[in-house]
Parts: sequence; structure tokens; C-alpha cells
Amino acid sequence: MAISGTPTGDGWSSRSAFILAAIGAAVGLGNLWRFPTLAGENGGGAFVIFYIGCVVLLGLPLLLAEIFIGRAGQTDAVGSIRKVAKTSKVSPRWSLFGGLGALAAFLIVSFYSVVAGWVLYYVGVFAGDFVQALLAGEPFRGALQGETQEQIAGRMGDLFASPGLLLAMHLVFMGATLFIVARGVSGGIEKAATWLMPAFFVLLLAITIYGAIVGDVGEAAAFLFTPDWSKLDARVMNEALGQALFSLSLGVAGIITYGSYIREGTRLGPTAFAIGFADTAVALIAGLMIFPIVFAVGLDPAAGPTLVFQTLPFAFEAMPAGALVGMLFFILVLVAAITSSISLLEVPTAWAIGELGWSRQRSALTFGIGAFAIGVACLLGYNVWADVRPLGFWPLFAETDILDTVDGFTGKIMLPLGALCTSLFVGWRADRRLTEQTTGLSRPMFTLWRFLLAWLCPLAVAAILLFGLFPQLL
Ligand code: PHE
Repeated sequence: MAISGTPTGDGWSSRSAFILAAIGAAVGLGNLWRFPTLAGENGGGAFVIFYIGCVVLLGLPLLLAEIFIGRAGQTDAVGSIRKVAKTSKVSPRWSLFGGLGALAAFLIVSFYSVVAGWVLYYVGVFAGDFVQALLAGEPFRGALQGETQEQIAGRMGDLFASPGLLLAMHLVFMGATLFIVARGVSGGIEKAATWLMPAFFVLLLAITIYGAIVGDVGEAAAFLFTPDWSKLDARVMNEALGQALFSLSLGVAGIITYGSYIREGTRLGPTAFAIGFADTAVALIAGLMIFPIVFAVGLDPAAGPTLVFQTLPFAFEAMPAGALVGMLFFILVLVAAITSSISLLEVPTAWAIGELGWSRQRSALTFGIGAFAIGVACLLGYNVWADVRPLGFWPLFAETDILDTVDGFTGKIMLPLGALCTSLFVGWRADRRLTEQTTGLSRPMFTLWRFLLAWLCPLAVAAILLFGLFPQLL
């Protein structure tokens, strides 16, 4: 059934459809790849506990603020902010930050699809290995039998050295994203979420139980939850704050856009809480799934971005049923990635539908192809354009390759800027009656929410922005 008010008349068919789609948007490479990477690099416990604090005190209020704008505006991010600004009698220029968000989402999806392409490649590697295991009559053997650690790690190097392979993976992933977004909100995005998210949770649970049986959960839990506060310096706090924004999909107007498709009568507070809770739970479970396996083989948790692509595959070699579980693990990551990439592509798509009057197909195709092209530049940065430094004149990005430049520019600058504008706009400028009515919070919750949004969020997010821009201050 359609919701009047949205430009396309399209919308979620129920509250649970929205929650599922929004959890799908939030849960992604950020939870399964970036969170374990950062937790591992930054010594575990203190980072993890500080991260949870960021989610509760900053993430949840911002999440509700974005849902509120979308629900009150009921159209694309720019249009929604403009509408709320009008009702609140403040300058329509605030809607600029919706445009900034749409641009950020467009840039993020370009390299997100490249990284998801690596995941797709590993699905292929492990699926091939599992088929071989089946043919050999040993379906429960470890993965990639007989390969040395260097050989397994070398697969990533081989992949990176091959523009053709990277391109093919990126093409398939972006194509799938584009296909789903072009089919619309209820017919595409919602359908994908209602099929994929249950599968995601079943796989997550299964692999976590597996990790608990074959791996060292005690050591993993101790690593993840025992804080060594001396490790918590300003840089680590900065990383944790930035990760909380990224993981909850904040600052790119994605939640505004998804929120605009919500039906009347949905209680926004509990909805925001459910999304934030699920996203954080998945990040923690991902840690409890990956580290037991890593520790069981005595590997280094601080491997960095290659933890999932090099360390973990090697661990699967020594694990019972490693071929099967390795394959399932990468399928899990792929599923999480696609429900996020569709939410990213949806932001600029909805913008062009609402603001330029384009058809959904035309919008999705334009931005999908555009993001694909930027992604191609990113992946060439690993081989033929390895020396290119797009923002080399800027000390912050002097040594940064193409993909990391797009990632760093969006993550360190655009995303905190979007979150800062959101908190200032909703915390200070948006009409109080409108906010109260739309969110439907109880009086004490409303007061608490406004306080966090108006004071804590801007200060903390401004700090991320400042230290992101001037790391020498740290
Ligand atoms: N939250 C997603 C993840 O954790 C990434 C994302 C960011 C998706 C912003 C949409 C918008 O992978």
C-alpha cells in the first residue's frame, strides 16, 4: 500500500519492514570487517567499552533525529529537511546538509562496492574449496588444505594485482545493488531485506556457536571486554566515535531517507533503539565470532584491515569444517554488505526523484553507474594507478591511495559534518512541538534526548571533525 506524501507513493509495508531494512542498512562491512579490525588494532576492551558509550550517548540520539526528519518530511533528505525547516520557520538553507549527505552516500557506495567485491571473491575461493572437499568425500575438512600462511595471504595480493578480477567483482556487486534499488522501496529494498536479514541472523548465530565450540571464546571475551584504559588515548576515542557514526549509517542522510518511508503511527523512539541495539549487538557478536577462531590458532588479533581476508582464512585451514564455515562466513559478510549498499545508493536516488523529478530507474541507473566509475578508479589504485594520490597536496591525505582517500574524506570529514548539522538542526532549530509530536517520546525521555542532541552530540562530533582534520592536535 502506498503512503501519500512520498514522491513516488512508495513506502514500507509495515513497521517491521522498516526496522528490518534499517537494520540491514546499519549492519554491514562496518560491523563485520571494520569493527573487529579496529577493536583488534586498538587493544580490545577499552576501545569496545568506549565504542558502546558512543553508541548509547551519541548514536541513538542522532539515529532518532534522522528518523524524525524523514518521518516529518516524508520525502528525500533535502526535501524533508526543507519541510521541517519551513514548519520551524528557519532558513531552508539547512537542507544543504541533506545534499551533502547524498553526495557522501554516493561516494561511500563507490568504494564500499569494491570492498564488497573482495568479499565476493572470497566467497568464490571458499565455495570452490568446499566443492573440492565434497568431491573428495571430506565435506568437513579444513579450508585450503596444504597451503602455507604466505600462500593464503598471497591470495589477497593476487586479487589486488588483477584489475580485471577486481573490476568483475565490483561490477557484479554494484549491478546487484542497482537492480534492487531500481525496483523500488517495497518491491526491491524491502523484499531484499525481508529475505536476506533472516538468513543473515541464522548464519551469524550458526557461525558464532561454531566458534564457541572449536575456538577460544574465553580468551576472545577477555580480549573484547577487559579494558586496559591506558590504551584509550585521543586517537582511539576518535576512531571509536567515527566508527559509531559509520556503523549506524549516520551523517549521510540514509536514515532520513529510509525514515521518510515510514507509516503514520510508528513509535519512533523504540524503533531507533531497536536499530541501534541490533547494530551494536551484531558488531559485538562479530567480535565473539572472529576472535575465538583467530585465538584458537594463536594468530595476531591486531592484523588490521587484512584480519578478515588473510588471518581468518588461515585460521579456517586448521578448523574442523573450515571449508564449509569459511564459505558461510563470507556469504554472511556479503549479505550484510548488500543490504547496506542498497541503502547508500537509495539516498542520491531518492534525492533525484524528489528534487529533479526523475524516474526511479533513471536515478538509480545514473548514480549506480557514476559510483561504479569512481569505484573503478579506487580499484585501479591498487595496481595501475598505485602511485596516484588524489588529494596529495593535502598533508592529511599525502600518502593515501585512491580508495583510502575516498574513504577518509567521507569518513573523517563529510560524515561528522553531516552528523554535526543534524544535531544542531534538530537539537536547536527544529520546532519543539513538531519534534515532540512526531517522536512521541515521554516527557523525561524527550528532555534527555534534546539535551544529548543539543549539547553532547555537537561537541563530541565537532571533536571528531577537528581531530580528523588536524591529527597533529592529538
Ligand atoms: N552502516 C554501514 C556499515 O556498517 C555502512 C553505511 C554507512 C551504510 C552509511 C549506509 C550509510 O557497513
